[in-house]
Amino acid sequence: MGKVFLNGQFIDRTKAKVDIEDRGNMFGDGVYEVIRVYNGQLFTLEEHLQRLMKSGEKILLNMPYDIEQMRAIIKQLIIESDLDFGIVYIQVTRGAITRQHAFPGNEVPATFFAYTKPLKRPLVQQRDGVKVKTEEDIRWLKCDIKSLNLLGNVLAKQNAANQGCFEAVLVRGGFVTEGSSSNIYIVKNGVIRTHPANNLILNGVTRLVVLKQCEQTNLTVMESPFTVVELMDADEAFLTSTTSEVIPIVEVDGQKIGNGLVGTITAKLQQSYENEIEEQCKRAKLE
Ligand code: PDD
Repeated sequence: MGKVFLNGQFIDRTKAKVDIEDRGNMFGDGVYEVIRVYNGQLFTLEEHLQRLMKSGEKILLNMPYDIEQMRAIIKQLIIESDLDFGIVYIQVTRGAITRQHAFPGNEVPATFFAYTKPLKRPLVQQRDGVKVKTEEDIRWLKCDIKSLNLLGNVLAKQNAANQGCFEAVLVRGGFVTEGSSSNIYIVKNGVIRTHPANNLILNGVTRLVVLKQCEQTNLTVMESPFTVVELMDADEAFLTSTTSEVIPIVEVDGQKIGNGLVGTITAKLQQSYENEIEEQCKRAKLE
């Protein structure tokens, strides 16, 4: 089931093989993206492709395709895979060569692949909200790069999952940076706060959509770090990501946030996000 685009060809998922010495396997030496597909239409495709190019630039990776070529590949992949609702995963690594830490020469081509995965929307979590667990942010200092090095994220997520929590909220020096695979927000006295888009977080595409909607609907946003104490004391909290969209946080480390129910501003942002999905998909269909 499903097609993969690997190094220039659309092939069967079962036939897609990557060299064991691929630098993605050996060093996590690569970058990736995850894009949502609704009703066969790609959501925020341009933003994801631009971020992929930027991530590649930041690790000095020679990208094998430009944005226009990637756009065409991904659109064709959706058709080849007959994907309705799900995600596209794109990965680019510094290629395969006998194991050595230093970069290979330019003669070694990057490994590029993309595949699709059917994935339902997390509607129950969006409706009821989720519990999260705080975890120390032990990651490196270039979290703005969407790199394959995800051990810090994975370990935190598993610790959270072991406690029955949906997400790990990462904390560096007492301040909340982001989730293990999402961005985190609080609402206090009607003001939304989230960590600024610097080297300590991934500037989520969903984050950008939500912040734009806040601006359009005159909701006040402060892009400034907040502490765990401020999180605990918030009226509302929520997280965003491509796969989660907007999910309310109703409990942190076993303590209720606000009244423990989905907040009104969070609910409003969920509705705006829903509208944006509908509008973008309508537009994409007409293209
Ligand atoms: N994760 N922060 C981190 C560390 C992430 O891994 C992600 C996304 C986000 C949110 O970014 P966006 O809104 O662009 O999805 C923030 C993806 C979904 C993943 O790794 O599966």
